[in-house]
Amino acid sequence: MQTAADPFTDLLLNFYEQTAELYDDWADGVNRRAAARIVELAAVQPDEGVIDVGCGTGLVTHALAVDHSSGGWALGVDISQAMLAVAERRRVAGSGISFVHGSAECLVLRDDAVDIVILGNVLAQTQDPEVVIQEAWRVLRPGGRVVVSAEQRSLMTAADEVFFAELAELAAVFRIPRRRDNHAVIGEPSVLRGLLEEAAFSNVRTTQLLIGNHTDDARGFIELMRLTGPWPHAVISVLGPAARERFERRLTGAVKFSRDGGFLYHRAFSFAVAERA
Ligand SMILES: C[S@@+](CC[C@H](N)C(=O)[O-])C[C@H]1O[C@@H](n2cnc3c(N)ncnc32)[C@H](O)[C@@H]1O
Repeated sequence: MQTAADPFTDLLLNFYEQTAELYDDWADGVNRRAAARIVELAAVQPDEGVIDVGCGTGLVTHALAVDHSSGGWALGVDISQAMLAVAERRRVAGSGISFVHGSAECLVLRDDAVDIVILGNVLAQTQDPEVVIQEAWRVLRPGGRVVVSAEQRSLMTAADEVFFAELAELAAVFRIPRRRDNHAVIGEPSVLRGLLEEAAFSNVRTTQLLIGNHTDDARGFIELMRLTGPWPHAVISVLGPAARERFERRLTGAVKFSRDGGFLYHRAFSFAVAERA
C-alpha cells in the first residue's frame, strides 16, 4: 500500500487505490465530461509542451492534441500509483505522452519548461493550493497558460446538502482527516480567479459546467455519493449495517420534504484559463 506523510493524503491514496478503475465512468461519466471541457479550453497546439498535474487516469492527458513529430509532448503527473497505472495502460507508444509519479507541490520540471499547465480538479485535494499555483507559474514559460478546474460546491442540490449534513453528524464520532474548510470554496469562480490573480496570473477567464442526474432511492444515492471523494468514501466505509440503514432512512425522510423532493445530484465545475506574464 502507498503511504504519505500527511494523514489526508493517506486517505486520498487509499481512496484512489480502491476506486481508480471506476473513475472514468462514475456518475454517467461526469469526470469524462469535465475533462473534455478542459481539453477544449486548453486548445493545445501540436508543437506545445504540456504538464497535466494530478492527471489521474489521463482523461485529459490522452486527449491533448500534442504531436511528437512536431516537437509537442505532454507529461501527466500524479501522486496516486493506482490512477497512474490506469493512465499508463492506455498510453500509445511514440505519442509524446508520458506519465510520472510526483507531487503537485514540487514538480519535476525546471523553470520555464512548458507552454501549458493543467490543474484538473486537483487543487482542493492538495495540502496547499497556493503553493501548487506558484509551482504552475514556475514551470510555465512567460506567455504560457494555466487551465484549472475545480468543483463548485455552492450549486449542490437539496439531496446533496442533506447527504453532507447527515454525513458530518455520522463522522463526528470518528477521527477521519479532512482538508481545511477553505478548500471547499476553491471552485467558486471568484475564489478561483482570486487565487490565480494573487499568484500574478493575468487575463483570467472563467466558465462553468453543471451536470446533474438522480438515483431512484437513498441506497443508490449513498452508493453514488460515496465516490465523490476520499472523505465521504472513508466515512461511509466505516459505517456498520445499522448506521447505514439509519442514514438511508434519515436521508429518505429529509429529501421527501426538501425543495427538490427527490434524489437529485449535481456535479458543478468552474474552469479558469489564465496567462503567465
Ligand atoms: C479528481 S482527480 C482528477 C484527475 C484528472 N485531472 C481529471 O481531470 O480527470 C484528482 C487527482 O489528483 C491527484 N492528486 C491529489 N493530490 C495530489 C498532489 N498533491 N500531487 C499530485 N497529484 C495529486 C489524485 O491522485 C487524483 O488522481
